[in-house]
Amino acid sequence: MTPGAPLVEMRGIVKAFGAVEALRGADLTLGVAEVLGLVGDNAAGKSTLMKILTGVHRPDAGEIVFEGRAVAFHSPRDSRALGIEMIYQNLALAPNLDVVGNVFLGRERTKRVLPRVMEWLDERRMDAETRKILDRLKIRMDSVRAPVARLSGGQQQAVAIARAVSFNARVVVMDEPTASLAVKEVGKVLALVSELRAKQVSVILISHRLQDVFTVADRVMVLRGGRGALDTRIGDTTMDEVVKYIVGADTGGLSHLASGR
Ligand SMILES: Nc1ncnc2c1ncn2[C@@H]1O[C@H](COP(=O)(O)OP(=O)(O)OP(=O)(O)O)[C@@H](O)[C@H]1O
Ligand SMILES: [Mg+2]
Repeated sequence: MTPGAPLVEMRGIVKAFGAVEALRGADLTLGVAEVLGLVGDNAAGKSTLMKILTGVHRPDAGEIVFEGRAVAFHSPRDSRALGIEMIYQNLALAPNLDVVGNVFLGRERTKRVLPRVMEWLDERRMDAETRKILDRLKIRMDSVRAPVARLSGGQQQAVAIARAVSFNARVVVMDEPTASLAVKEVGKVLALVSELRAKQVSVILISHRLQDVFTVADRVMVLRGGRGALDTRIGDTTMDEVVKYIVGADTGGLSHLASGR
């Protein structure tokens, strides 16, 4: 990979669900250790674009390039193999399991008591690995043995992030991570996003809260009607300008640049 080259490039992504054209030639680039804010009105195509990046949906047209190589994802497993993880809005945690149980859900570490006959869960090892990940992300948690249902929204978000990181994620996609959080917790989740970037993990942050995007993102991209309307460094724009591109007032979008499409 050439230095400074994007980690992820999505080009001309088209996706229709029946008569609904969710994406109509969307482009996206993401750098190494970059936080990209992905914003847009309801139904603009944000979640769909991310589900294509994470192998949930296949695009009708367009290409995905990862580290300079064209890739095709047939399932979330394929994108996970490259280190792309998505945290959904509902977090997909198991509320009755504790923190450790959630981090290792579906791939529990075992130790062999009698090879091929008896396998026990290696609770100590999972416990230690979970603590290591939490420490690395500077997440403070009183007990990794508390059922996650008893944690606050922000702590649950932290568990979901720890789980993503435990897969050696290089890209973490978060869909509205702060939407249902108390004000006090929003800052903590945004600090976690910065911490991921400091660990060389890139983040795509979908949010309707522009203040979050302006607090933590390096770049912001606006989707409107299934296409890019604005893509700029945070320092080169303002919330007012971004809002204009979201609602589409008098901007014309980037469609005038995308001739031939
Ligand atoms: N599985 C699906 N089947 C049919 N239509 C879908 C499906 N997923 C998304 N759509 C449609 O595609 C369009 C884009 O939806 P998408 O969820 O990507 O928007 P979004 O930008 O994430 O919106 P929001 O901010 O409300 O989450 C919408 O019109 C939506 O109804
Ligand atoms: Mg969405």
